[in-house]
Amino acid sequence: MDKIVIKGGQALHGEVQASGAKNAALPILASALLADGTSTYRNVPDLADVATMLKVLRTMGCDAERNTETSDVCQVGVNGHITPEAPYELVKTMRASVLVLGPLVARFGRARVSMPGGCAIGARPIDQHLKGLKALGADIHLTEGYVEAQAKQLKGGTVNFDVITVTGTENVMMAAVLAKGRTVMENCAREPEVEELAKVLNKMGARIEGAGTSIITIQGVDGLKPVEHAILPDRIEAGTLLVAAAISGGDVLVKRVVPEHMDAMVEKLREAGCTLTAEGGGLRCKAPQRLEAVNITTTEHPGFPTDMQAQLMALMSVSQGTSVINENIFENRFMHVPELHRLGADITIQGHTAVVKGVKGLSGAPVMATDLRASASLILAGLRAEGRTDVSRVYHLDRGYERLERKLSGLGADIRREKA
Ligand code: EPU
Repeated sequence: MDKIVIKGGQALHGEVQASGAKNAALPILASALLADGTSTYRNVPDLADVATMLKVLRTMGCDAERNTETSDVCQVGVNGHITPEAPYELVKTMRASVLVLGPLVARFGRARVSMPGGCAIGARPIDQHLKGLKALGADIHLTEGYVEAQAKQLKGGTVNFDVITVTGTENVMMAAVLAKGRTVMENCAREPEVEELAKVLNKMGARIEGAGTSIITIQGVDGLKPVEHAILPDRIEAGTLLVAAAISGGDVLVKRVVPEHMDAMVEKLREAGCTLTAEGGGLRCKAPQRLEAVNITTTEHPGFPTDMQAQLMALMSVSQGTSVINENIFENRFMHVPELHRLGADITIQGHTAVVKGVKGLSGAPVMATDLRASASLILAGLRAEGRTDVSRVYHLDRGYERLERKLSGLGADIRREKA
């Protein structure tokens, strides 16, 4: 098992490019199931989660591969002979495998998909996905740990989500594109990745309006065609790199981002004293002499993203003053706190709130990643800590960051991957 070894204290400088967005690539790869033929995707990040989604698709009988010559290209071929089933062995390694449920039932009339279990950051039920599919006429049973969904032909309907859910919105949207008639989805997630999926589906011939707002309207069509598409940049990876500049006292340009997707992060970094400037399709972050504490409340997009909470907490741990961080999306997303304590951070948790008292400095120590964003947070803290920090359980990092240690070392960080 690999670990990341960091010797802290180097200010990061230079330019780095954001990769394609994990949370857009996953639903988009699943959407290939909606058409016969081969879809081609560019700018697909090389991540463990993407490899898992390709495997899920192959298990069903798709021809789903990453191109060996052009490594950011993935192709998914569907020839109509599909076994519409996602097994427990794969779903348990990646909850987002559940994104095949909507496309399968819409296109093949049935699906058998393992129920994702709990997760390190929260219970994460899928009741809203199922509620949406039922509203479109799917017959749904839970048997032996599997969701079994059937519908000869889905029919348009009204879906009002009780909870705003990103993959729930995506799953139901992918089902509704082939339903007969008109579907209205209310209280939808407004994340850029939902909008990106709708863009891809519309390129395939779907008729979706309103993605990116809380009401999405879909006029069902009889069939879709395969697509070619380049995935949008990863706003969370880009945000993590901006925080790396800020925490290390550096000055970094993150190229190829969509700045308007990152407004809430940019605002908080500015409040903390950083200078953020848009520069040629990228964002530059220059650290201040002294970082100031800021308060953060995670909410759905366009609010501050939960996927950046752990990274901002690392930054706040060395800022001047006290920061109050409210986590409103997941009930158990403070697993990085005990590990940050090992580096010398002063953080107390009260329910959904963490109170971070900035300390003068952190000191390196061995720490353990507990989930994807927690691992990024520990690496960021390690960049600042005096001495050596070893971050183990790096498989969490590899699920969602494309060679983060290489990107950081390209900016001057003393960081390497080692076999543990
Ligand atoms: N929820 C329900 N019922 C549902 C669905 C969700 O109660 O049927 C609750 C969840 O338990 C949670 C809240 O609603 O408390 C929001 O969950 P959501 O469904 O939006 O999360 P998700 O779709 O499972 C995606 C991202 C996550 C990101 C969240 C929130 C993908 C593949 N995953 O998850 O990404 O944290 O939205 O923005 O898009 C990550 O990249 O590190 C990551 C965890």
